[in-house]
Amino acid sequence: MSKSLFERLGGIEGITSISNDVVDNHLANKSIATRFANSDLSKIKNAAATFFITGTGGPNVYTGKDMLAAHKGMNISAAEFMSVLDDALSALGKNNIGQREQEEVLFVLYSMRSQIVLV
Ligand code: HEM
Repeated sequence: MSKSLFERLGGIEGITSISNDVVDNHLANKSIATRFANSDLSKIKNAAATFFITGTGGPNVYTGKDMLAAHKGMNISAAEFMSVLDDALSALGKNNIGQREQEEVLFVLYSMRSQIVLV
């Protein structure tokens, strides 16, 4: 296990594709789509990709807010958080990411729950 998660997800190219699919899944997901009704699509895709690249051991390219600051006051429920995890797993599957890597991403995402749900 010498390669970073960033490398095993396909580097910048692979993670950009996964992140675009995650955001597209959110917009198609009835339980959370309205959250992004006023969002600038290219801006949130870029935020998702750069956050993911930096958070998995890639270059330090994320310049957005920390997770608490980004979600504070939104009243995000546990069910909505689960929807985001579902969308992420589905995007990983679509991009042919192996189970081991899917488990690692799921764990990293889940670990942010307390900074996002009902904050
Ligand atoms: C582990 C799970 C999550 C991660 C890693 C995550 C990540 C992010 C990131 C990186 C940003 C951009 C912050 C910035 O630009 O400064 C953001 C913004 C946002 N997130 Fe999340 N998020 C998660 C869960 C959720 C959930 C569950 C919801 C609600 C369904 C949500 C709704 C939003 C909204 C509405 C924005 C603002 C979008 C905009 O700027 O137009 N997030 N999130």
